[in-house]
Amino acid sequence: MIEKCSSADSPKPLEIVARGDENDVFMDLSFSVPYRHRVWFCENVFDPQCDILKKCFDDGDRNRHDLEQDSAKVQIWIDNAVADCHPEFLHALTAWIAADSKLQLTRAPEFIGGGETCKNDWRIVQNLLGAINDDQLDRRSYIVVIGGGAVLDVVGYAAAVAHRGIRLIRFPSTTLAQADSGVGVKNAVNEFGKKNWKGTFAVPWAVVNDYSLLDSLPTSTFVSGFSEAVKVALLKSPASFNFLCDNADEIRARDPSTASHAIQESAIHHLRHIAQGGDPFELMEARPLDFGHWLAHKIEALSDYGITHGDAVSLGLAVDVLYSVEILGLESDTAERVIGCLRRLGLPVWDPLLDRQRRQLLAGLEEFRQHLGGRLTVTMLAAVGRPVNIHEIDHQAVDRAIDALKGRSFDS
Ligand SMILES: NC(=O)c1ccc[n+]([C@@H]2O[C@H](COP(=O)([O-])OP(=O)(O)OC[C@H]3O[C@@H](n4cnc5c(N)ncnc54)[C@H](O)[C@@H]3O)[C@@H](O)[C@H]2O)c1
Ligand SMILES: [Zn+2]
Repeated sequence: MIEKCSSADSPKPLEIVARGDENDVFMDLSFSVPYRHRVWFCENVFDPQCDILKKCFDDGDRNRHDLEQDSAKVQIWIDNAVADCHPEFLHALTAWIAADSKLQLTRAPEFIGGGETCKNDWRIVQNLLGAINDDQLDRRSYIVVIGGGAVLDVVGYAAAVAHRGIRLIRFPSTTLAQADSGVGVKNAVNEFGKKNWKGTFAVPWAVVNDYSLLDSLPTSTFVSGFSEAVKVALLKSPASFNFLCDNADEIRARDPSTASHAIQESAIHHLRHIAQGGDPFELMEARPLDFGHWLAHKIEALSDYGITHGDAVSLGLAVDVLYSVEILGLESDTAERVIGCLRRLGLPVWDPLLDRQRRQLLAGLEEFRQHLGGRLTVTMLAAVGRPVNIHEIDHQAVDRAIDALKGRSFDS
């Protein structure tokens, strides 16, 4: 069969924007790529009524002719803790893929030790790339990853660089990953003792937030993810912030419908920001979704990743709202509500490292700037739903914010 090559159809004349001297021609063409970001929320993806999995692997019109001839190769990579706690999930997923004649599992599921250590170990990336190469996956293959934010990041990184991008289907398995990282378009591993130094932007093929995976989380990990929900609510939605304040106790008690509602709202705020905020790949000056993160990333590294990302974000938010009161006129009642909400959720607003490593923490500002380049831009808060970008940080005001939190740490 001979097919017409679509790029040969009606070639569009190139536009010459400017001509210099005889030999210099300057071209400046803009183009856009239509991305789709598909995220499903469910209580059990294997419920017989649920057709999410089918839709996840559905190729739409994009490569239809391909799949008529070949089955698509699939690999599954899973966080050890999830495999231990949910063997039935892995079994059901493997069986579901095996039953689909258009899909071909190339090997048994592979396991990755979860937690931040997997982002610090380059051998894990090499192992992933080796397996992708050995099984000859290609851009029409699928990598399915089930896990916390750390495992999603490391597998996502390998999937994004192999062949410049293999389709990635994510099953986030922590509250933080479902509320934030799993629905994002970034992946990363740590390098040079710095968080997320190596990474890419890559839109996942599909994301499934299956709440049943969250049952097995230890309570500290369960509550940890809601710091990102507080963060995004402060940036985007007074109504979502009120919901979190009003329901902090229920969320901490793991009431399923309250917690899943909070996760879904957070995920949707993150998604809207990415898909409709005008800067999905952070090309511009600010990284608004990283409110509270200049300190969070640094304290995680200073604690040798003993402080989890979610807890570190809680600390970062507590400092930054107090800073915002002093510098940007955020109402102090609002800052108190934020700190109270974090505490009622079971999140930390104090850690001795805030005191012991003050100078090193402030060095985090420079790392934050270097990540993006250009002048320092940090998002702070003038009011709930009213973020403000600032370009200088008053170190003494940060000190005072830390002092204020230190004072409170004694009455908890
Ligand atoms: N790419 C992004 O946009 C982005 C955004 C935010 C955070 N992150 C990253 O996400 C990571 C934090 O993710 P996290 O909070 O999910 O923690 P995590 O991935 O470190 O997981 C925490 C622990 O929970 C275990 N676990 C995972 N799912 C479980 C389950 N269902 N039951 C029992 N145990 C389970 C893991 O094995 C691990 O030990 C950080 O590395 C952070 O930098 C990335
Ligand atoms: Zn974060």
